[in-house]
This record gives sequence, C-alpha cells and structure tokens, in this order.
Amino acid sequence: MFDHLRQERVLILDFGSQTTQLIARRVRESHVFCEIHPFNMSLKEIENFKPKGIILSGGPSSVHDEGAPLADPAIFDLGIPLLGICYGMQLLAHQLSGAVEKAQRREYGPAAIDIDMPGDIFYGIEKQGVRVWMSHGDRILKLPPSFKTMAHSDNSPTAAMGDSKRHLYGVQFHPEVAHTPCGKDILENFLFRICRCRPSWTMKSFVESTVSSIREKVGNDQVICALSGGVDSSVVAVLLHKAIGERLHCIFVDNGLLRKGEAETVQRVFRDHFEINLIHIDASAEFLDCLRGVSDPERKRKIIGNLFIGVFEREAARIRDARYLAQGTLYPDVIESVSFKGPSATIKTHHNVGGLPEGMKLELIEPLRELFKDEVRLVGRELALPERIIMRHPFPGPGLAIRIIGELSPANLEILREADAVIQEEIEASGWYEHVWQSFAVLLPIRSVGVMGDERTYEQVIALRAVESVDAMTADWARLPYEVLGRISNRIINEVKGVNRVVYDISSKPPSTIEWE
Ligand code: XMP
Repeated sequence: MFDHLRQERVLILDFGSQTTQLIARRVRESHVFCEIHPFNMSLKEIENFKPKGIILSGGPSSVHDEGAPLADPAIFDLGIPLLGICYGMQLLAHQLSGAVEKAQRREYGPAAIDIDMPGDIFYGIEKQGVRVWMSHGDRILKLPPSFKTMAHSDNSPTAAMGDSKRHLYGVQFHPEVAHTPCGKDILENFLFRICRCRPSWTMKSFVESTVSSIREKVGNDQVICALSGGVDSSVVAVLLHKAIGERLHCIFVDNGLLRKGEAETVQRVFRDHFEINLIHIDASAEFLDCLRGVSDPERKRKIIGNLFIGVFEREAARIRDARYLAQGTLYPDVIESVSFKGPSATIKTHHNVGGLPEGMKLELIEPLRELFKDEVRLVGRELALPERIIMRHPFPGPGLAIRIIGELSPANLEILREADAVIQEEIEASGWYEHVWQSFAVLLPIRSVGVMGDERTYEQVIALRAVESVDAMTADWARLPYEVLGRISNRIINEVKGVNRVVYDISSKPPSTIEWE
C-alpha cells in the first residue's frame, strides 16, 4: 500500500538491537510512517521503498566480529539522509574509512554529553550536560573523512558525529529510550529538519485510508471475523464494520472459560451498540466435556485450540459466499517472522497468535498488520470503542482453564470466576488497573483449614497475581497497597463460597512466569 499516508516514510534497518521496535514506535509517535527491515535488505528493495530517511539500529555485534552484519555501502551514496544509532554509528565509521576500537571501559547506562555542533540533529537542545543512555563496548577512534564530532562525553570523545553535507549522522547513545529525555527532539530533528518528512501518519488518517482500501478489496463479498473481545479483534471488527457494514460476520465462541460477564459485554457492545452481525456460539458444554479429567496445561491448551478451530469452522461454513477472514495480526508478529535472526522482536507473541483454521479456503485480511499495540489502541479510540475494551488487559486464549491448577469442573470454574470478578472490581476501583499489566485469580488444588463462626472449614485457596510489565517477557509483582490487598482478600473469603484463604504471589518473571498454569 503506497498512499499519501505512507509516502513520507522512513526505513529502519535492524542490526539486532533490543530497541529496534522502540525506534519505530518513536518515529510513528512523531507521525511519520516507518518500517523495520533486516539489515541486509537489498539495495533494489531499499530504492523501491523510497524512504525519506534511513535509520540504522543498534545491535549486539562489534564491527570487528567475524561475520558482523554490515550495510550495503551503496546506501551511503543514495543521497538519502541517514542516522546510525550505536552499532549503526560504528558501522558508519567502519564502512566509511574511519576506525572503531574497543573502549577500555564498556559504557552502559546514563551518561552526560556536551554538544560541540548545535544545529542539525541537536537543533534546540541544550549544549551541556545532556542526559543520554549509553550502551556500547566499542567507540570511534577515527572519524570518517568529512565527518565532524558533534558531541562528546567523558568516555566517548565522539558521542555523535555527522557529515551535514551528505546528511549522514551517527549517535553513540540511544535516543529512542525514555532514559534519553531529549531523544524525541533528536529524532524529530532528524525526521523533520534533515529528512524533511511531514507528520502525516495519524490514526485518523489510518482509519480513513484503511476503510477505503478494505472497501475496494472486499467489493461485494462477505467477510468473517473471529471476535474474542480482546483489543485487537475488537478493533478489527469495528474497522471492518465501518468499511463494509452488513457484509461483516463476527463469530464469538463462548468456550465457557471466560471471565464473569464477558460474553454479555461482547454482545452488548458489538451487537447492540455497534449493530454488527454477531454470531454468538455458546460452546461451553462442548469445551468442558472435552476437558473433563485433564490436568496437564499443555493438553488443556491443545484441546481448547483444536476445539476452537472446529467450532469456528463449523459456524463459518454456514456463512454463504464468505471469501475473506479478518484477523488482528499486529506489526510485532510480522517483524518477528521476517527480521534479522529475530533478536529485536522482544514481544512474546507465540502465545497469542490466534491459531486460526489453516484448512479454510479464505483469503486473509489483516488491517492491523502495520500497527504497534499502542497504535491499535489509538485506532480503537478513533472508532469510539469503549475505553474498557481499549485498555483491557491481555487474557490468555485458553482462558480460565490455565488458572485452575488441575482438573476443571463447573464448580471450580464458578469459584474462580467469582474470585476473579472481585479482583477486577477492586483493582479498577483502586485506580491500579492501568498500572498493572495483568491481575487475576488462580485457583489452587489444595485445601486448608479455616474457621468461620464456630465451625472449622476446609476449603480452597485463591492466589492473587498482579504484575507490572511492558511486554510480558519480564514482569514484576505489583506493589499493591496493603489496603487493596486486604479488601480483595476480605471480599473473596466472604463472598466466594468454597474459599477460606487468599495468598499474594510475590514472584517476578523470570524465574517465575505470569500464569501459573
Ligand atoms: P507467561 O505465563 O508465559 O505469560 O509468563 C506471558 C503472557 O502470555 C499470556 N499467556 C497466554 N496467552 N495463550 C494465550 O493466548 C496461552 O496459552 C497463554 N499462556 C500465557 C499470559 O497471560 C501473559 O500475558
């Protein structure tokens, strides 16, 4: 797709840094479209891409390593402005006849730089003691001819360099991370002053252009969409509905493993409010039947995944003339599958890839393929989806099944669902909902003694899990106030029959995981 929205686009070549995606998100936040491609993208493809600027990411290698990833040297002569970040800067030096050496001391963490050449990428930035985030082992020994040092730090005589005439720049630090407070200004100087991009990438224009391209593609055909009630599939559904109205058919499979009230909410929001064709399948009996006697979490996952496909296919087959299947694939899933050895893709996606029917003879429509999660949320807001759905925490596909340790039963599910509902209510009421990544109840397969009135009880234990995280790769337990913990515990023990003890999980990931399974 090459429309006005994406005309002003920037190419990010990935050399394997953990923060490559962050660079892309920052560029997008400045309303410039960009894509991440592997460092060895061919010159022809780069020319076809027609970038207004190129950013070379950082990476774990040293330019002196055997087999270190290099850029095609021809990209320095395309006349396209270029910014090398960290390893990207060392490459510039290495490939343009400068020299890079091992620094005596690895520089990792906060540093202060002084600007030697204000203007260009440092336009409008204070000159001394600029706080930046460093992470490098090598440093520039000799500048390439025609380059000048633009900034230095105590440990890096060249913390930034550039050749203003050729619009080639390099920074030793990471402007894309939050620890470099003026990083956004530096990137914007590059985008707007050097590359002369216009800030045309907005979610409003994304919605407009996507709606019209979906209309064009779908024509008079019918589209099926698997709606789960999560952010991604909800945004896909509303976006498609805006484009093709009646010709969208959403299938919502209630597997009986959802949270309290979830099935009702989905129907209220999508059928009643948005007036979307919604087929609600209550398959809970079928799912519970197949899960009877199963306690191994991987088997639970498999059974649930396969059954979902079966139910979905069965229902989809009833929709006559369906030609397309709409899916909420996001950009991190796409990059993960194409990127250079994949190290930059830090977002764990394998869990959440929908596993949709392979045998179905439907063409895919993936309108969110270019978007990061934060952009999807903005699109949701643009489409007036309720804030509850937009800001919804991730919820695993196998649902409550992996939060009951051991075998499932209708009684166990009821206990877990009620306990979980208390947690959701209290976390929301306390204002913690947006600070935590996920919060939920886990039902443990043990009983312990308690006392209620004059009677001894022998009932089950709920573990409360609440974690903070940015991408689910790592997580730390949320420091919820004692009052919130106390209220949750009191309410669960008083209101949920069958539970006489609540414990709080204070483990971080790693070495623990978020779910207990
Ligand atoms: P863990 O437990 O591996 O979870 O730390 C990381 C993130 O993945 C979610 N998760 C799943 N999502 N199917 C899913 O769709 C699954 O089987 C599954 N297992 C874990 C989990 O909720 C967390 O956000």
